[in-house]
Amino acid sequence: MISYKKLGFVNTKQMFKKAMSGGYAIPAYNFNNMEQLQAIVMACLETQSPVILQVSKGAREYTDQTMLQYMAQGAVEMMKREAKIKKLKPIPIVLHLDHGTDFAICKSCIDNGFSSVMIDGSHLTYDENIKLTKKVVQYAHKHGVTVEGELGVLAGVEDDIKAENHSYTKPEEVKDFVKKTGVDSLAISIGTSHGAYKFKPGQKPEIRLDILKKIEKMIPGFPIVLHGSSSIPQDYVTMINKYGGQMPNAIGISEKQLRQAARLAVCKINIDSDGRIVMTGMVRKILFEKPSEFDPRKYLGPAREALKEMYKRKNKEVLGSSGRV
Ligand code: G3H
Ligand code: 13P
Ligand code: ZN
Repeated sequence: MISYKKLGFVNTKQMFKKAMSGGYAIPAYNFNNMEQLQAIVMACLETQSPVILQVSKGAREYTDQTMLQYMAQGAVEMMKREAKIKKLKPIPIVLHLDHGTDFAICKSCIDNGFSSVMIDGSHLTYDENIKLTKKVVQYAHKHGVTVEGELGVLAGVEDDIKAENHSYTKPEEVKDFVKKTGVDSLAISIGTSHGAYKFKPGQKPEIRLDILKKIEKMIPGFPIVLHGSSSIPQDYVTMINKYGGQMPNAIGISEKQLRQAARLAVCKINIDSDGRIVMTGMVRKILFEKPSEFDPRKYLGPAREALKEMYKRKNKEVLGSSGRV
């Protein structure tokens, strides 16, 4: 058993409490490799923002469990050293499992230094979701690890799950779910979706803040999580398309709406695709402009720098989390 405290992480409890009273959201950025991890941690240190480092099941497999543990621990050490050099306050960091599918993966993460896990039972029946989520909560809380559950299925454009098919979270269910499971935060479905194609061409890119407000009324002060919250930066989509990529009609969530959500009960906003897009755009551009380049540092380095700038802007302008350490 490796305790997250030993690795230098914190759970989400205090972070969410402060975010709720301060009217902002904690950034939850996914990473799969060293460059992404460095960009996230340095951006959050420089903007003095708390941060949640997210690892998906796929990321965990891609990096290897042992490698991942040391990478994350290394990121904390790097942050502390850089904080000293730059005379900044060290920032609180959460290591979080994103979309845990079953008890075993949640347990494995808890046993290996994660300070927070998500158990995603959103595709199960209501009762099965409660049963599984409760089981994870019971184990996690024994070890001081916080748990995110999910109610409602995120709308997907490609798979034709539409709002009309009741994929939105039902406000009348949330109180019972939170009470029966004991979760520390709840991911909801109000029109965001994963990936780079969140709305069809011609469709109004809007999320249902009215449902969020109804949910907040049912569970006042309870931390809400928004998945699928990338905004798909159009300058980088243009860059990708200009330098040989093909991402027509890629569109994301309005940053203005995300800011509004963060002022309400949303305490955690999940962003993965935006980072992928910035990185891909930069790598494509550099390889196109310098076809003889074959040193990965020469294209991954500038990509890391662009990523960092993007995360800094998000913290300042969208999440409202900068200066909140
Ligand atoms: O919610 C999904 C995240 O963007 C992780 O994606 O499963 O491809 O790592 P992934
Ligand atoms: P995006 O695909 O919108 O970045 O969503 C990421 C996410 O929800 C990770 O859990
Ligand atoms: Zn997600």
